[in-house]
Amino acid sequence: MKPLSIQPIPYQGSKRSLAPRICQLIPDGVETLYEPFAGSAAITIYAATHNQTERFVIGDSFGVLIDLWEMIIERPSELSERYSDVWHAQLDNPHHFNEVRAAYNDNADPVQLLYLVARCVKNAVRFNKHGHFTQSADKRRTGMKPDKVTRTVHNVSNLLKGRVELYKGDFEACIRNARPSDFVYMDPPYQGTSYGPDKRYAAQLERDTLIKALNRLDTRDVPYVLSYDGRTGDKTYGDPLPDSVNAHLLEISAGRSSQATLNGSAAETVESLYVSHGLELFDMAIPQEQPQKRLFA
Ligand SMILES: C[S@@+](CC[C@H](N)C(=O)[O-])C[C@H]1O[C@@H](n2cnc3c(N)ncnc32)[C@H](O)[C@@H]1O
Repeated sequence: MKPLSIQPIPYQGSKRSLAPRICQLIPDGVETLYEPFAGSAAITIYAATHNQTERFVIGDSFGVLIDLWEMIIERPSELSERYSDVWHAQLDNPHHFNEVRAAYNDNADPVQLLYLVARCVKNAVRFNKHGHFTQSADKRRTGMKPDKVTRTVHNVSNLLKGRVELYKGDFEACIRNARPSDFVYMDPPYQGTSYGPDKRYAAQLERDTLIKALNRLDTRDVPYVLSYDGRTGDKTYGDPLPDSVNAHLLEISAGRSSQATLNGSAAETVESLYVSHGLELFDMAIPQEQPQKRLFA
């Protein structure tokens, strides 16, 4: 039997492949799973598919993305039909992607955003300092086919409808009401990838803001897992968070990076996971040279 299509937004940097390991850290009996840097909400989708929690909060400061989530969950037929129109119009117009991009940068239409994400180079969105979408079309692909979008958004709507609250805005406001019986998964833009002229995400995050937010979650006894920075081969992205953050640091192997593969290198990418105290860590290998770290292979 073919597995269900359940990833409606093909976001580069999605945590889809790491979701089975990250979701092992969600304790039984959690009431609400908060995903305040949702992007394609890979953790919510995995946890919902495996009935790990009943309720979800999907938040992101990129408002159009949340508009897209609203359409996926509440209006999947309308989204599918409009996506199919936008997708088919590219077949006899070589300028179509650029025209949709210009229209999206004027109107912030969530259906156009889905087409741009699905069709752009490596599904890697890029924005300029005005928040305009700048990535180009991938010339070798046509983007996710309309019939796949239709199947996927209906599956996701069936999975999440009536169980999700959507939040447009900053992560701290999104998790303001989280309680000790809830669970927060955070995947902010990484320190090592946030800066430069063409940004990966519509918004960036200051490290100090993140540290203070983690301190507040610790004080409120809200369990959390944070994905933050890491390394590929010898290259490290970002500095470790300070000891004031009351969390275990795990390293999770994410396989070969797509950049390393393009460069013909065999370098492995390892991502850091900060796991709040009190969450069960299972039996993980502890590298001898860095006993504070544990490897989540
Ligand atoms: C690394 S991506 C998340 C990817 C996600 N885990 C997935 O599986 O697709 C980071 C997301 O955080 C959002 N973001 C950036 N700064 C934010 C902030 N201060 N508050 C809320 N969301 C923010 C970005 O728009 C982006 O969608």
